[in-house]
Amino acid sequence: MGELLNKLKIVVRVWKFFYKYQRYGILWGVALILAGLYPAISAWIAKAVINSVFSPPQQHFVSWLPNAFLFGIAYGVVTLLHGIISSSSAVELVTINDKNVRVTDQLLMEKTASSVGITAYALSQTRDEIRLASTGGRSVQTCFTGSVDLFHHLVAVIGLSIILIYYHPLVAVIVLLPAIPLLYTQPKVRANTFAALVYQSPVYRQMGYFLELMLGTSTAKEIRVYRTGSFFLNKYQQAADEIIKTSRRLRWNATKSAIAWGSLAAVGIGGAYLYIIYLATTNSIGIGDVVMYSAAVFYAGSSIRSLIQSSSSLSASILSVEKFFDYLDQQPPAVVTKSLQSPASAASRSQEWVLNNVSYSYPGRNEKALENVTFSIRPKEKIAIVGLNGAGKTTLMKLMLRLLEPDGGTISFRGIDLKAWDVLTLRKNFGVVFQDFSKFKLTLYENIALALNGGPASDYRDAAVFNAARLAGVDEIAGHVPQGYDTQLGKEFSKGTDLSGGQWQRIALARGFVRDASVVFLDEPTAALDAKTEKALFEQLMDLAQDKTAIVISHRLFVTPLVDRILVLDRGCLVEEGRHDQLMKHDGVYAEMFKTQVGMYWPTAHQ
Ligand SMILES: Nc1ncnc2c1ncn2[C@@H]1O[C@H](COP(=O)(O)OP(=O)(O)OP(=O)(O)O)[C@@H](O)[C@H]1O
Ligand SMILES: [Mg+2]
Repeated sequence: MGELLNKLKIVVRVWKFFYKYQRYGILWGVALILAGLYPAISAWIAKAVINSVFSPPQQHFVSWLPNAFLFGIAYGVVTLLHGIISSSSAVELVTINDKNVRVTDQLLMEKTASSVGITAYALSQTRDEIRLASTGGRSVQTCFTGSVDLFHHLVAVIGLSIILIYYHPLVAVIVLLPAIPLLYTQPKVRANTFAALVYQSPVYRQMGYFLELMLGTSTAKEIRVYRTGSFFLNKYQQAADEIIKTSRRLRWNATKSAIAWGSLAAVGIGGAYLYIIYLATTNSIGIGDVVMYSAAVFYAGSSIRSLIQSSSSLSASILSVEKFFDYLDQQPPAVVTKSLQSPASAASRSQEWVLNNVSYSYPGRNEKALENVTFSIRPKEKIAIVGLNGAGKTTLMKLMLRLLEPDGGTISFRGIDLKAWDVLTLRKNFGVVFQDFSKFKLTLYENIALALNGGPASDYRDAAVFNAARLAGVDEIAGHVPQGYDTQLGKEFSKGTDLSGGQWQRIALARGFVRDASVVFLDEPTAALDAKTEKALFEQLMDLAQDKTAIVISHRLFVTPLVDRILVLDRGCLVEEGRHDQLMKHDGVYAEMFKTQVGMYWPTAHQ
């Protein structure tokens, strides 16, 4: 019962959703539901026509016209109305579906983009949730039409039952009673089918992943070079086989029970016919009644079948829609505002960034990516973070951008805990170049303008974009591609142009500098650039960052003498801190790294 109530609640929410976004859809729904009265009305009119032909009443409704004609006309009008409603609603519901896809996709994208951090994306559970929510969004429409369908058939069954109960209750009992088990079991069996799909969803995702690997452009090179084609093909087949096997079993379960209980319901219909024939042959009912009962029983049989079908598909879509609403309802983790109240101390006011005992481990991993890291940064200071692969440099940057939340310790920016900042306001201060920067399949201009605070305007070219482009050496690229700044990037599109790794990186760099940010984060910003460009460009960037705080992560130690302070990370811990000459004198981890690099290029340099 509670379960039924829950389902009803979701149906109500879907109707409210339609009321909010597609109000006129409700009109069509109500019209279709009312059209469910058609079988009952037409059966009753048929009886009236025949009875007034065979035993004409003494008085006509209209003095000169036999009642049979009037009933005939009424029948015509009702049938015409029914036809108009059915066919126009079919057209309208398709349009409603198209619109609904847009509305739900938009809501999902907004919700996903509004989440503060990225930790959740690392979890396969969240990815499943998002995938299910997106399927669920598509089901909102199915759920709406499904519920209209269900109520339509329910109204039909109720209308017919009223006629039968009014004129002959026993016929109603014979028809309806045996159909109850079928009504009860079918939606349940179908629900299990969906639950199983949820259960299997990692396999589903795997299937999609292998397909993408085999057909996608980004992996085409490696797949060909390593000849791993048949390996992935086999993996795909395994996943697909598993899904097909399970779904087949579940479908058969549903069908077996449908056959069993369906036979019982059929016995009820057959019994009702026999009973009507019996009544007719014993002259207990007139010919008009025979026609009405037969029509009512026939319609009742088909309406019950449709009722079951629609209630089964409705409960499947309800389960799916539930995932959509669940996802939209998710609340972001509560913001801790306690530290907000504590007035910024004099020390923290002179410091722009204060990290205190910050620790972090990625979900599902035991070892800490960062452990008890403590340091602070003054406004406009230039900082380099160095360390071996996996030392935790990128993780540190993600924590400072509040893409991740520390497990322990606190990070404050301008004296206020990051958690107390409004994320959008906070991030407006930052320009960022990520190590694994994105290559957006947009035009060259849009690729940079994307990072402007407020995003690219459609009809206005921002001078800041061209400035940043010039500084990052993108104007040179623009000069060589077919449509300059309007060139569509990415091979996926016709007329699209792809760029070299270094060229893409320059675009990412321009993006990092296009907004008027007071802090710039650069994670390996020049790793893909040629040596000639690299040093010149880096010096230029440092010039540009003169009035900004700059946090640069780099393996190229030529950058370190150019900064105010170097932070050395080793396996998640901050092990050394200071200027280049200080750290060289200290002769620790940094000095070792530096000497190794110098030794690589000039083997005899420090002998
Ligand atoms: N999304 C992730 N999920 C789980 N573990 C991660 C994730 N990203 C990084 N790690 C782990 O966290 C540790 C620190 O990684 P991080 O990316 O911060 O290193 P890094 O210093 O930037 O290295 P590199 O010089 O190679 O860029 C590594 O052990 C890495 O395996
Ligand atoms: Mg990194």
